[in-house]
Amino acid sequence: MLNKPPVIAAVVAIFAAPALADPVEDRQAIMKERGQIMRTLGPIAQGRQPFDAATVMAALERLNANAQAHDVAALYPAGSEGGDAAAAIWSDMDGFRAADERFKQGVAAALAAGPQDLDTFRATFGPAAQNCGACHESYRD
Ligand code: HEC
Repeated sequence: MLNKPPVIAAVVAIFAAPALADPVEDRQAIMKERGQIMRTLGPIAQGRQPFDAATVMAALERLNANAQAHDVAALYPAGSEGGDAAAAIWSDMDGFRAADERFKQGVAAALAAGPQDLDTFRATFGPAAQNCGACHESYRD
């Protein structure tokens, strides 16, 4: 690390950081980042901020990486009940995994669409974003 320029050192630090021990904290950190990314994408989808393809693609890349990082087995192990995670996650793990899979696939499709205009963005981002509320309704207290 010693001879690396500061930017590279910073990037290395970012990727090395999320080795937290507590699955509740880990999953809440992922969800918080999700919420943060949505504050960029949501207003654009709603037409309250201008569509900018580079901004949208960068945010979709982040959202996709965030979605992939949501490893259900690692983040919701038996005995990690707590936070705002509903008991239904553990009593209906298949349903929870399916909801997670729908979200992952929706985000991947929105990214793969490579939206260059607002209509294309809305057509794929809208269905992906609906999975947030759908999952929270059943699996978040
Ligand atoms: C597959 C289910 C699922 C999907 C999809 C999902 N969430 Fe969550 N979310 C949860 C669960 C479960 C919690 C509670 C975690 C805990 O407290 O242990 C949560 C918590 C949160 C929180 C609160 C985090 C905190 O503790 O501060 C935010 C914000 C959030 N989600 C945003 C989002 C957004 C935005 C999306 C979509 C882009 C999304 N979530 C998609 C399951 C989901």
